[in-house]
Amino acid sequence: MNISIAIMAAGLGTRMKSKIPKVLHKLSGFEMLYHIIKEAKKISDDIHVILYHQSDLVQKEMNKYFKDINYIIQDHEQFPGTGGAIMGVNPKYNKLLVLNGDMPLLENDDMSIFAKQKSSVVMSSFTCENPSGYGRVVLDANHNVKKIVEEKDASEQEKEINLVNAGVYLFSTTFLKENLCKLKNDNQQKEYYITDLVKIANENNIKVKTVVVNADTFMGVNSKYHLSIAEILMQRRIKRRFMEQGVLMRLPESIYIESSVQIEGESVIQNGVSLLGDTKIINSTIKSNSVVENSTIQNSDIGPMARIRPDSNIIDTHIGNFVEVKKSTLKGVKAGHLSYLGDSEIDNGTNIGCGTITCNYDGKSKYKTIIGKNVFIGSDSQLIAPVVIEDDVIIASGTTVTKNIKKGSLAINRAPLKMIEGFYYKFFGKDNG
Ligand code: UD1
Ligand code: CA
Repeated sequence: MNISIAIMAAGLGTRMKSKIPKVLHKLSGFEMLYHIIKEAKKISDDIHVILYHQSDLVQKEMNKYFKDINYIIQDHEQFPGTGGAIMGVNPKYNKLLVLNGDMPLLENDDMSIFAKQKSSVVMSSFTCENPSGYGRVVLDANHNVKKIVEEKDASEQEKEINLVNAGVYLFSTTFLKENLCKLKNDNQQKEYYITDLVKIANENNIKVKTVVVNADTFMGVNSKYHLSIAEILMQRRIKRRFMEQGVLMRLPESIYIESSVQIEGESVIQNGVSLLGDTKIINSTIKSNSVVENSTIQNSDIGPMARIRPDSNIIDTHIGNFVEVKKSTLKGVKAGHLSYLGDSEIDNGTNIGCGTITCNYDGKSKYKTIIGKNVFIGSDSQLIAPVVIEDDVIIASGTTVTKNIKKGSLAINRAPLKMIEGFYYKFFGKDNG
């Protein structure tokens, strides 16, 4: 689409009460600014992001995802405010869509509605029960927008208006070139408001239309409370899409899924599950309260209460409760209860007994544990890495494995069991019977 997009992200975000710049606060695993840039890029190849506070940090974080963004540093000292923000933008196309950087729920379809508008000034609004914090939209008799009044500048009567400015605008580049210089900062906050361009348009006899938008989708995140509301909305959206694709979710409201996660086939996600980062779930069941991070799970069942940490690859496997897996590949394995499996490779038909621990760390470095096919590891065994256990091995319960074990062997290193008869009665000074 032949449209330029400016995303305003220079504000301090005082109401977040945070050292982190507002637009870097995350939703569903990614920064608010990431979400909006990602969507904007779907409809435009000319994206401008306006920064000021902690601009280096914001740019560094965004460089991890995007290459071709024009970053503009606002002259915040001389021209603070949303009007000041767009003064340095030099759009490639003759339409500029302006977005607030704190609207993480906007999707490209929502943006496209504006891009199609013909007028030289278009704004966005919605009606809400509690308009506090938003600019109020004052309409004329013909339902055109006369002006936008910020809460701090509004009269008692204006504060009663519950049609509010959603914070998305479309301007013709020519209009901006002619009128941006006319903005003044004669308001409560001594800022240059983008919203005053509406008043200026009216003074030039340009009718300003408003696109009525969805209040949830266009919500502005100003505080950590708002962030939590936006998170709920984004999570519902993510989970709904998966459920429509055939994923079964038990109590979806209790599940957290980051926006990078993929779920395929007939998978089941039970209550309280967290799926994080680059996780891919294929034809698998993730039972209650399990956490899976940056891992692939295929034709397997996990949990309840299991933790699959990054870089694990779990195929045709059963993982039971209180099992932690890290950076490991398990194929056709059963690990039913209470185990730590880190930096390991475990092959088909192997059973990991309850309480098995791969001791992968000696305080300095991490080492690998390699376990072959059809190995039976008895409960409460420790495997001191680096160690290789070949196919068809039995490890007796309670064994500490310190050497590689050859194919077909039994490994056992139990201390002999000693029995002292009558010790109990002597120790507690009680009679026998
Ligand atoms: C703004 C609107 C308000 C609207 C609301 C919708 C103005 C004056 N007010 O208010 O009418 O109802 O959004 O959510 O525009 N920013 C800059 N440079 C600055 C100041 C802000 O880039 O100097 C950026 C911020 O980083 C933010 C966006 O502009 O992403 C909006 O700023 P914010 O302070 O949140 O404006 P609101 O008070 O919410
Ligand atoms: Ca805002």
